[in-house]
Amino acid sequence: MVGYAFMGSAHSQAWRTVNRVFDLPLHARMTAVCGRDEANVAAAAARLGWEQHTTDWRALVSRDDIDLIDICTPGDSHAEIAIAALAAGKHVLCEKPLANTIDEARQMAAAAERGAAAGVRSMCGFNYRRVPAVALMRRMVADGRIGDIRHVRAVYLQDWITDPQFPLVWRLQKDKAGSGALGDIGAHIIDLTQFVTGQRITGVTALTETFVKERPLPQASSGLSAAAGDGNGTVTTGQVTVDDAALFLARLDGGAIATYEATRFATGRKNGLRVEINGSLGSIAFDFERMNELEFYDATEPSTEQGFTTILVTEPDHPYLSAWWPPGHGIGYEHSFTHQARDLIEAIATGADPAPSFTDALQVQLVLDAVLRSAGHGSGWTDVEPIFAEVAA
Ligand SMILES: NC(=O)c1ccc[n+]([C@@H]2O[C@H](COP(=O)([O-])OP(=O)(O)OC[C@H]3O[C@@H](n4cnc5c(N)ncnc54)[C@H](O)[C@@H]3O)[C@@H](O)[C@H]2O)c1
Repeated sequence: MVGYAFMGSAHSQAWRTVNRVFDLPLHARMTAVCGRDEANVAAAAARLGWEQHTTDWRALVSRDDIDLIDICTPGDSHAEIAIAALAAGKHVLCEKPLANTIDEARQMAAAAERGAAAGVRSMCGFNYRRVPAVALMRRMVADGRIGDIRHVRAVYLQDWITDPQFPLVWRLQKDKAGSGALGDIGAHIIDLTQFVTGQRITGVTALTETFVKERPLPQASSGLSAAAGDGNGTVTTGQVTVDDAALFLARLDGGAIATYEATRFATGRKNGLRVEINGSLGSIAFDFERMNELEFYDATEPSTEQGFTTILVTEPDHPYLSAWWPPGHGIGYEHSFTHQARDLIEAIATGADPAPSFTDALQVQLVLDAVLRSAGHGSGWTDVEPIFAEVAA
C-alpha cells in the first residue's frame, strides 16, 4: 500500500478484516506500506498492521513477493504508480478520482487494458458502490421496481472548509488534487448514480465557484484536518486553485435527466451524500448519513396504501450482509472498504475483471472534464467525450 493516512487507514482496516469475515479463495497478506517520511511510515506500519515499511514506492513495485499495489495517495501520483505497478504485473487498487487529468486517466486505462490481457486486474476505489443499501438500490432499479427512470437527483455535501482560515491543504491545490469538491466528492455521486441506474452521463451544463480564494499555508496535514502556519506563529497565504462547489445538470444515455451538487460549503452537512431516483413506477432514495436504510415508494400499490417505506438494509439476503451481524445490527463506513477488498480478491481469484475498472473511472474523469469545460465557458452545454477510441490507441 502507498499512502497511510485517511484512505490508508480505511484500506488497512479492510485488508486486516476481509479474510476474517468473508470466506475467500485467497488470503490478503499486508506485506509492506510506503510513505515519504521514514519515522512516520514506520509508526503507521506498526499501527495499521503492515509487516514492513519503505519510503520508496518503486521498491514495492519491484518486489517478487508483492502481488497487489493499493494506491492511497493524492491524485498527482496515481498515474505514475499505477502504470509502473501494472507494467510490473501487479494487480492495482487505486483510490478515486482515478487521476488528475484525462490524459493521465487515458494512459492508466490503456495500461489496465494491457494488464487485463495478461491476467492483471485493476479497480478504482469508488467504495460507496459497496454500501449494502446502494447495492440493493441498484438491484431494485435493475429489477424494474421503479420502472423507467425520469429523474436522478444527487448531492454530496460537506462543510469542512467553511472557515476561511482553514489552511490550503493538498485538496485545495489543482496540481495535487486535479479539481476541488468536484473530483473529490462529485466523482463519487457521478459513479454511484451511473452504477445504480446503469445509465451514463452524456452531457452537462455546469457552474463552479471558489468562495475563499486565498488561505493560510498549512503545517503538515493529512486527511481532512490540518493546522495553519509554520508552527512558530508565522502564517503566509496561498491561492486556492480548485472549486469549492460544483453544480451541474446532466442528460443520461437511457433518457433520464439529472442534477448534481458537490460542495464543501454546506454548513452543517458533514458527509451528506444523498441520491433520489424517480421512475415511472416508483422512487428510491439513499442518504449516507442513514446508510443502513433505503427509502422506497411503490406507485403500483393501491393509492390508499402508497407511501415511502423505509427498508432496514441489514437482512442476510441483502448484499454483503450474510457475512456480518444479525438483522438490525447495523454496519458503518469502514465496511464499504472491506466489501471493496472482498470483491477485488474474489475477482483476482476467479480471473474476472473487477468493477469499477480503470475504463469506468476514466469515464467519470471525462464527466469531470466536461463539467469544468462547461463551467469555464459560461455554463454552455458540453458533451462528455467518448471513451473508447483513445483507450484502444
Ligand atoms: N473512497 C473515498 O471515500 C475517499 C475518501 C477520501 C479520500 N479518497 C482518495 O484517496 C486518496 C488519498 O486521500 P486521503 O484522504 O487518504 O489523503 P491523506 O492526505 O489523508 O493521505 C495521503 C497519504 O499519501 C501519502 N503520500 C502523498 N504523496 C505521496 C508519494 N508521492 N509517495 C508516497 N506517499 C505519498 C501521504 O504521506 C499520506 O500518507 C485521494 O485520491 C483521495 O481522493 C477517497
